[in-house]
Amino acid sequence: MSFDLVLFGGTGDLTWRKLMPALFQAYRHGKLPSGGRILAVARDERSDAEYRTFIKERFTEVDPGKRPSDDEFAAFAELLHYRRMDLAQPEHYAGLKQLLDERGADTVVLFLATSPHLFPQICEQLGKVGLNGPNVRVVLEKPLGHDLASAQQINRVVKSAFREEQALRIDHYLGKPAVQNLMALRFGNALFEPLWRRESIANIQITLAESIGVGTRGDFYDRTGALRDMVQNHALQLLTMIAMEPPSTSDADAIRDEKLKVLRSLKPFTPESVARDVVRGQYRAGTVDGKRVPGYVEESKVPPGSACETFVALRTEVQNWRWAGVPFYLRTGKRLAEREAHIVVNFREVPHPIFPGTRAANKLVIKLQPEDGLELHLLAAKGGGPSPDGREMLSPVSLDLDFDKAFPTDRVGGYERLLMDALAGRLNLFVRSDEQEQAWRWVEPVLHAWANDSVGPRPYVAGSWGPAAASALVARDGCAWAEEQ
Ligand code: BG6
Repeated sequence: MSFDLVLFGGTGDLTWRKLMPALFQAYRHGKLPSGGRILAVARDERSDAEYRTFIKERFTEVDPGKRPSDDEFAAFAELLHYRRMDLAQPEHYAGLKQLLDERGADTVVLFLATSPHLFPQICEQLGKVGLNGPNVRVVLEKPLGHDLASAQQINRVVKSAFREEQALRIDHYLGKPAVQNLMALRFGNALFEPLWRRESIANIQITLAESIGVGTRGDFYDRTGALRDMVQNHALQLLTMIAMEPPSTSDADAIRDEKLKVLRSLKPFTPESVARDVVRGQYRAGTVDGKRVPGYVEESKVPPGSACETFVALRTEVQNWRWAGVPFYLRTGKRLAEREAHIVVNFREVPHPIFPGTRAANKLVIKLQPEDGLELHLLAAKGGGPSPDGREMLSPVSLDLDFDKAFPTDRVGGYERLLMDALAGRLNLFVRSDEQEQAWRWVEPVLHAWANDSVGPRPYVAGSWGPAAASALVARDGCAWAEEQ
């Protein structure tokens, strides 16, 4: 299959930090279809050779494991081409179409790695020049809008030029191997599904913790905040995969229909429930990984006195027969104690305990990063004989599965997976417009409540696990976050 992969924003951060390393890995793994051309477009004048040198230099800044040797780069670089394009000029789109038509590749993937405010303009122009035929797909990076109305506006323009199955919305969490394992765990194994419901599960916690701060992205982040940056997309996508009903097939729409039903079943927020069930925080100066770090408002490009949240913890419910009454807790933040993403499924305690001592309930920990694995926490007899009163004491033990060890050679990174899926037209791991809009619909009352609340985010010290109110949120239901258990 021959392809043309056009990277709009071809000199930008996303391209050289994420897309090029992922494309190079795919090339190295022999997964990149042969007959390909990668065409970067951007505003300034460069030759192919100059662009290749630019990308080669940038590779020195990425993860060493993802850097090519000189020979590897020389071979990979033959795929790389560059074209100057001013996105405001209609004739430049016509020129691009002509260039692509001359080659006539089987598949054309247009990856919009630009600032999202350009998406409507680019899509409109692509449609006008006819760069939207059946062999064309367009890939859109988040953030897709900053609220429901702006997301709908982007979708309207995208839909005026492309059919739904031609528009691929990226949520890079869906590309992570651990997230695909969530589907495998639930629907490739018979073991858990009978227990995957309110009768056996006490609560579910999703934590996406980062130890980094906002770095150089202060201006973007301050307009965005943790709710839009991480909850509306990544955390909610994980929640849908945990809570969805088994799809009837593994087809993209069978899966996305079930995810959409979960989003539609989420308990809607009211101003009262936002005050009770959502905690927002902002980091102050502190110590992370042994280093002193500034507070959020001291970061560059962050306006003084900003009320932007860098932490969110919330409690919600999925209002259907399977999950009625089961709390789902979501938590994410920057400058937390560790970089760690996991989902904890806390099972109910045994209904009638006959052993003395600990009654710790079973717990399944789905580890997303930095490790990718599963831990099943159980109680077992140590075999040291009974206690003085003649009864057997139980101790906590865990079954650990490390996927990086189990499948050492087959793991591919998130962007690599998503780029290969985009080229192959596999839509399972992309977000449909109705899912994306429903997620905005659900978070919007929180945004409104915060806009009308002069109290602002609660401070937390960088390097901690967020404001104490986040612990109080779960403690109210008699629960605790994983690190507090
Ligand atoms: C992005 C957010 O979507 O996800 C960033 O915009 C965040 O703020 C990043 O740091 C986290 O992704 P990962 O894969 O490092 O967990």
